[in-house]
Amino acid sequence: MARRLSKRDKWAENQELERVHEPDRDAIVSENATYMKGEWGTKAFDQDQPLTLELGCGQGLFAMDLARRFPDRNVLGVDVKSHRFYRGAKDSEVAGVTNVQFLRTRIQWLDRFFAPDEVSEIWLTFSDPQEGDKRGTKRLTSPYYQAIYQSVLRMGGRVHVKTDSQDLYERTLEHAAESGMKVTGQTANVHAERHERFDEEIAESLGFITAFEDRWIKEGRRIHYAQLEKVQDVSQEALTEALRMLQGPAERTKPRFPKGRGDKARVTWSPAGLD
Ligand SMILES: C[S@@+](CC[C@H](N)C(=O)[O-])C[C@H]1O[C@@H](n2cnc3c(N)ncnc32)[C@H](O)[C@@H]1O
Repeated sequence: MARRLSKRDKWAENQELERVHEPDRDAIVSENATYMKGEWGTKAFDQDQPLTLELGCGQGLFAMDLARRFPDRNVLGVDVKSHRFYRGAKDSEVAGVTNVQFLRTRIQWLDRFFAPDEVSEIWLTFSDPQEGDKRGTKRLTSPYYQAIYQSVLRMGGRVHVKTDSQDLYERTLEHAAESGMKVTGQTANVHAERHERFDEEIAESLGFITAFEDRWIKEGRRIHYAQLEKVQDVSQEALTEALRMLQGPAERTKPRFPKGRGDKARVTWSPAGLD
């Protein structure tokens, strides 16, 4: 029987996987550092095609499902816990799915990784609802986060939010009004309504079940979905404020990633601008 891998084993194995990006955190949070910004299509992926992000991807199986279903897209799973996405990275390598890759970072720093208009769509799958987050610095659909998403999305690009939390669902819709994003679809019962409410591609994408979703469905919870569209550029003022709130001193001085994992000092990814 295959040995169960520890977190450390997965961090070590990630170092060998072509599809995994683990740029040094301290370098990224230093002033004006960037990584692959504007270059995902030309330097990281085999083909220059529209880029989909799954933020908080966990094991990365949804990202992999999307990549398999839509070979004409590049899919990047993003999570701060890279031992979790080891599974998606390894499985996709074994299966030869070449249009999915994984990036370890905190979502607060997305502007360091993506140029304006570089991203075609964003999926947020089963994010922590963060019900007590009054300042909007933790809930991943707060107006601050939506400002950052708008800054990297192309015009007409969409944010898809799939959640078991009614609170997160309702707040996301409220925050969209505040952020100037247009609500282009919603349902409080995805699996009962996805085919009648949405076009085939969205209905199919909503049918891919994530690891957390599987758990919530077994517990009998309903799955909600909100779809937001970028219809205007975010103002420089709103973006500056969002970055100030999300990348403040507390975020910059967070502990380094756990001891022993070793940030990848890879040259093969040509970390342009990461100095
Ligand atoms: C509840 S899990 C959901 C995982 C996966 N999407 C699923 O549905 O199975 C939330 C994930 O988001 C990641 N996460 C939470 N906040 C994050 C942040 N600020 N930056 C990057 N990842 C984050 C966590 O590490 C975790 O893997």
